[in-house]
Amino acid sequence: MLKISFTSDPLPTQGALVLTVAEKGSLGAQGAALDKKLGGALTRAMDNGGFTGAKEKTLTILSPSPALTRIVLIGMGEPEKADAALWARIGGTGMAALSGKDVTAYLLIDTHKGLDEDTAEAAAQAALGARLRSYRFDLYRTKQKPEDKPALKNLIVASSAGKTAASRYAPLDKVADGVELARDLVSEPANVLTPAALAQQAKTLEKLGVKVTLLDAKQMKKFGMGALLGVAQGSPNPPYLVVMEWQGKGKKAPLCFVGKGVTFDTGGISLKPPAGMWDMKYDMAGSAAVIGAMKAIAGRKAKESVVGIVGLVENMPSGTAQRPGDVVTSADGQTIEVQNTDAEGRLVLADALWYAQKFFKPRAIVDLATLTGAIKVALGSDYAGLFSNDDTLADRLSQAGKAVEEKLWRLPLGESYDRLLKSDIADMKNIGGPDAGSITAAQFLQRFIGKGVAWAHLDIAGTAWQTKDSAVIPQGATAFGVRLLDQFVAEAEGRSGD
Ligand code: BES
Ligand code: MN
Ligand code: ZN
Repeated sequence: MLKISFTSDPLPTQGALVLTVAEKGSLGAQGAALDKKLGGALTRAMDNGGFTGAKEKTLTILSPSPALTRIVLIGMGEPEKADAALWARIGGTGMAALSGKDVTAYLLIDTHKGLDEDTAEAAAQAALGARLRSYRFDLYRTKQKPEDKPALKNLIVASSAGKTAASRYAPLDKVADGVELARDLVSEPANVLTPAALAQQAKTLEKLGVKVTLLDAKQMKKFGMGALLGVAQGSPNPPYLVVMEWQGKGKKAPLCFVGKGVTFDTGGISLKPPAGMWDMKYDMAGSAAVIGAMKAIAGRKAKESVVGIVGLVENMPSGTAQRPGDVVTSADGQTIEVQNTDAEGRLVLADALWYAQKFFKPRAIVDLATLTGAIKVALGSDYAGLFSNDDTLADRLSQAGKAVEEKLWRLPLGESYDRLLKSDIADMKNIGGPDAGSITAAQFLQRFIGKGVAWAHLDIAGTAWQTKDSAVIPQGATAFGVRLLDQFVAEAEGRSGD
């Protein structure tokens, strides 16, 4: 694992360096001194490479001196406009440009005109970005050559804040722990990560002081959770409902996060087509985000009380699987005609949402789910869909998402959409028509939210997995939601009185 430390020492004369450069190719104080020492090598390279210091652009200069292996210039644009998200991206992109033979690298947040003198936040965010980008999932590679493994072991983040940046970074490191756990869980194949295995992973949070309770099928049956159990009945791998409780300071009602944890979604009897079905191992990304967020929140000892609930099932076709047309009864007594067994996430969430309200009276409930392919069509992988019955909650979530660049786009709810769920035989059916698929799914969930309960639903089907590298997320599992939920909790801590 990458070891991150902080310093204000002068730049080393050997090894690899990442240096910030402001717009118009403007070097900071230390960058300029280094350039001079190297006989103008940096300015010459910027000229020849057409490098202007534009945001997140990099220019790598190999072997600028016998002892320096590489200098990566990284653009930061206008120093006045640099914010936390940009620093994280700079850390991530700088990190990616380093992948050479270097074991130790320096990342310098230089002093630039117009840049906030307090560079601790910048250094801490850059460190976070670097750590997040350095994530890899190599568990199942047995034939990796040594030269294909990352050489970098130490990242030293240098800034005028020096070692004081370490205390600013400490809570972010806990958030990164949560992101890493979520990415690991989402990356694991479904033959390994069964509902039972995922429940055991949640159990590991006990060592951070989280109270973790597992409900098995028998206990869920007692509660009448027919919606969740109906999905599970086709699989030999038994389902679990996992409840994670973090006790903060004070007696405020908790915030509650609920996650869809379908460890594999074949579609059930309404079987999905084979092409791309392997992607459905990540149909538990909502639950991974909730588990990861609980790890972050407990890791940094948040003051808010938070409850995480995940419904874990496998959706399989078999002789015991539920059939299209079956009618199931949810824990709150509503009947559902299951017209499509592939619309299973909402069935799992229905009972998990009931449990959250019944036992915790939360101040707000936020559920996360890879719920619909339609949200991918609508928003792609840049924004997750946000649905809510409460404008304040929706705004706070959007705000938190913006701050950590896990962006949300709100979509409407309304009675005319709700009507599309009308069934001829039961209280509702589990699919709407061909239109507005993400909205009718959200509408279905809302039927399980009590009067006056502030609730939001995040459809992360498009954002949970990424096919290309981006600044702070390598290709693959994104852990979308972990940083957002943590930020949402942190902002709640910052407000008094609600
Ligand atoms: N897990 C899928 C949604 C999904 C699609 C997640 C692509 C990630 C990537 C969900 O259970 C599902 O199958 N939804 C159906 C709903 C339909 C049957 C109403 C869908 O989106 O097609
Ligand atoms: Mn499905
Ligand atoms: Zn699904």
